[in-house]
Amino acid sequence: METPVPDVAVELPIDLRDPYPMFARRRAEGGVFRGSVMDWSKTPASLKPENLYAAVSFDAVNRVFRDSRIFNSQIYDSTIGLFIGPTILAMEGKPHWAHRNLVSAAFKTRSLARWEPEIVRPVVDGLIDEFIDAGRADLVHDFTFEFPTRVISRLLGLPEDDLPWFRRRAEELISYTVKYQRAFEASAALKDYFLAQIEQRRRTPTDDIIGDLVAAEIDGEKLTDEAIYSFLRLLLPAGLETTYRSSGNLLYLLLTHRDQFDAVNADHSLIGAAIEEGLRYETPLTTVQRFATDDTELDGMPIPAGSVIDVCIGSANRDEKRWDRPEEFDIFRPRTPHISFAAGEHTCMGLHLARMETRVAVECLLTRLTDITLATDGDPHIHGQPFRSPTVLPVTFRPAE
Ligand code: HEM
Repeated sequence: METPVPDVAVELPIDLRDPYPMFARRRAEGGVFRGSVMDWSKTPASLKPENLYAAVSFDAVNRVFRDSRIFNSQIYDSTIGLFIGPTILAMEGKPHWAHRNLVSAAFKTRSLARWEPEIVRPVVDGLIDEFIDAGRADLVHDFTFEFPTRVISRLLGLPEDDLPWFRRRAEELISYTVKYQRAFEASAALKDYFLAQIEQRRRTPTDDIIGDLVAAEIDGEKLTDEAIYSFLRLLLPAGLETTYRSSGNLLYLLLTHRDQFDAVNADHSLIGAAIEEGLRYETPLTTVQRFATDDTELDGMPIPAGSVIDVCIGSANRDEKRWDRPEEFDIFRPRTPHISFAAGEHTCMGLHLARMETRVAVECLLTRLTDITLATDGDPHIHGQPFRSPTVLPVTFRPAE
């Protein structure tokens, strides 16, 4: 007789305002548990993995990220990969290394020094110009969503007039978990659009990311069109969504911790520490998944081949074994690296860009506005699992003298 598969532990309903107490209860029981930190209740039974585990301690999460032979990313081929196509996100080993080298040439740190004055500051200042005279703004609608969208569009070298179309399609693509039909249409439209951009650059080379990707070559190997447009589509969930959510989280946390806001406002050299603490305390993406390629063991827990593992970054970032008072937002705490940019082979490729964009955004806001105060309309709060950020951030302010 077949042994019935025990139903895995998932605490439902998940508290979308604050899943952190649930993460803490799980950590108190061990670094790994059989179950999930995600809500699978709306997933058809045929698509629900039989074996689900969740890594919740810092050490377990770190180990999963660093052992990509056993804990593989190919699971993305059947989730986000359906919308963006084959990319480095779902590759492992040599192919991942070779492919990542090709695309990362376009993201080298030396480009940042140029991008800050030429693209990021003008974009951020231009946006502030659009709302500064009103004395009030919704920083999510008017600022945190808009600046990474405009930055990516400029980095890719897209025509200015295409911005409204690009913004709409980007929004539709990143909403793939809730409106998948729309996301498929956006994915197809973005493919055609990017193919035309690639073709133009083959005829006339340009000094932008698409131009770099068209020209990229290692040992005589060039990227195929499919690799280029898929990577460009990956930049929308990977680069745009994460940055808009994390900058919204940081602004919310500073606006609701007034003493820390005042300290950063008085001394902009604290912005870097505030960004890291914001990423630790409220990471924009609390959970990613991996697939066990072989029978293994994690923090003493046997994990059978074929299991799906929730890698709970949000829980790892609040591990009491690594941080004192992990449940407090404190930009002055001793700096211990968080794991919001993952670790190992798939460590975020855009982490320097994300930090720079966020620093410039906060610096410009604090320099150009004064008396910034969070209003209560729309009940601003951070919300969601696994993606987290505020949906509104209404503020009042005065232009600085
Ligand atoms: C605060 C902002 C950001 C956060 C928290 C973040 C977080 C992450 C995480 C956790 C991963 C690993 C995902 C996994 O393996 O399952 C990742 C990968 C990646 N990120 Fe970011 N990211 C951010 C911003 C950016 C930006 C601005 C870009 C580029 C414009 C970017 C590009 C990428 C790419 C291309 C990968 C795939 C790397 C690979 O698979 O080798 N990210 N990011």
